[in-house]
Amino acid sequence: MQEELRDLGQETGCRIAESLFYPVRTSRDRETALYRIFHEALINVRRHAQATEVRVALQGDHAAVRLEVADNGTGFDVLQALGRKRVGGLMTMQRRAALAGGCYFIESAPGQGTTVKVDMPLAVH
Ligand SMILES: Nc1ncnc2c1ncn2[C@@H]1O[C@H](COP(=O)(O)OP(=O)(O)O)[C@@H](O)[C@H]1O
Ligand SMILES: [Mg+2]
Repeated sequence: MQEELRDLGQETGCRIAESLFYPVRTSRDRETALYRIFHEALINVRRHAQATEVRVALQGDHAAVRLEVADNGTGFDVLQALGRKRVGGLMTMQRRAALAGGCYFIESAPGQGTTVKVDMPLAVH
């Protein structure tokens, strides 16, 4: 994650604020899901957001792992994008979170930036 964030910062010039706190490992399935969601969220930031700042928080403990990727870019109408019914990053992030027993949230609006959140309780599996 740190490497990808460093590349994003170098290639786009946007400021990266990261807070990665992950002292307790969890299952391979959960970690794979979280990593892929993170990766997909960064692809969307690069492709669509035109952000000047990206904030990423990863917080894990014995009870849950939480990931948040927030950009201050263009934002978009989430319902409209989901209504297109095309299986793209938004849909796959949601599915990956659900398959790993987590919840996925996306908050965005035109002009308001975008925040992707995943909340994965560890008691589920
Ligand atoms: N971080 C973001 N900032 C601005 N727009 C976004 C962001 N993430 C997604 N979008 C919008 O939502 C749409 C759907 O995203 P996605 O499902 O990942 O498909 P794709 O990236 O292939 O277009 C994008 O086309 C874009 O309009
Ligand atoms: Mg995408």
